[in-house]
Amino acid sequence: MRIPIKDDKFTFGIWTVGWQGVDPFGDATRSGLDPWEYATKLAELGAYGITFHDNDVFPFDASETERDEFVGKLKDAVDDAGICIPMVTTNTFSHPIFKDGGLTNNDRSIRRFGLKKILRNVDLAASLGAETFVMWGGREGAEYDSSKDLNAAYERYKEGLDAVAGYIKEQGYNLRIGLEPKPNEPRGDIFLPTIGHALALIAELDNGDIVGLNPETGHEQMANLNFNHGIAQALNAGKLFHIDLNGQSGVKYDQDKCFGHGDLAAAFFTVDLLENGFPGGGPRYEGPRHFDFKPTRTEGMEGVWESAAANMEMYLMFAEKAKAFREDPRTKELMEAASVPELAVPTMSPGESYADLLSSEEIDPDVVASREYHYVELYHNAMRHLVG
Ligand code: GCO
Ligand code: MN
Ligand code: MN
Repeated sequence: MRIPIKDDKFTFGIWTVGWQGVDPFGDATRSGLDPWEYATKLAELGAYGITFHDNDVFPFDASETERDEFVGKLKDAVDDAGICIPMVTTNTFSHPIFKDGGLTNNDRSIRRFGLKKILRNVDLAASLGAETFVMWGGREGAEYDSSKDLNAAYERYKEGLDAVAGYIKEQGYNLRIGLEPKPNEPRGDIFLPTIGHALALIAELDNGDIVGLNPETGHEQMANLNFNHGIAQALNAGKLFHIDLNGQSGVKYDQDKCFGHGDLAAAFFTVDLLENGFPGGGPRYEGPRHFDFKPTRTEGMEGVWESAAANMEMYLMFAEKAKAFREDPRTKELMEAASVPELAVPTMSPGESYADLLSSEEIDPDVVASREYHYVELYHNAMRHLVG
């Protein structure tokens, strides 16, 4: 197995390796480093870049001077390590002021506060050369159905997103917004719970052209959804702007395990799609392979770095096996047998009228129904490459 290199475009959030293990039931289980120290170590492991929330780098109540000092130290470490900051995101969830959300808070003064915090962070993201501005609305939601005028909540969510996107355009920044869906946790129900909900809302925005998705593997799987179908639909819509790769074992709390350390086969097909594209061509994802995971509380600093490396190694192992799977003549044969290429042929011919269709030659349903697809054997051939 080759080692990760910058061209692989592997990126990590500072909050991932920087998580000290605080959860609702327990205190920190390990100490942390200074934010900029993570940049140095991740670069050594072969990462291409790092990402962060504003308050991963400077405290919520930092003065201008402190803010500049901490950001400066991070920038120096990133430059010295020869890596980049392709994505920046805003913390609108930790401080108690955001306990009922930022953009959808019932309290207008808090919405205005939240929007200002986000706009200031847009400036920071642009100044550091980031191209993606992730917005994970973890606190945008509710526990009780009676707590919100839900129509107004969606209006305010759209207003907030349009304001951020409009600001980016007005300033002429080279930034696009990536919305990150999640069904629940920390709120009982989070608005925009899935990729599909987010796509539908984006379609209603005035500035939706620069708003897309940052889907996370585990978040779709928490809702028992197929992550690969989700990212495929985002790609199809031209909206896969960024991606959070990690691992989740079934429908439960957000596990944020290492990529591939959950549903192994699904992770294989994620990499197959990202690396090899759709069988019949079509939109490709060219952005960073961003890992949003949490080394479990059982790990010390050695375990943190082992976990970080494991994400990249999993991805590279999958990539190698997915390439072999696609190049295998047996795979090509089985895809033909399954009529996979035929799905790329439009159902109606160019210029064909409804009358032409309605009068076209009838097929015998019973004859056609008896055809086979060999989907099991095709999938099994992938498994031969994955675990054989
Ligand atoms: C989660 C989320 C967060 C967001 C991050 C970006 O696991 O609930 O993934 O980690 O990605 O906060 O804003
Ligand atoms: Mn998560
Ligand atoms: Mn995430």
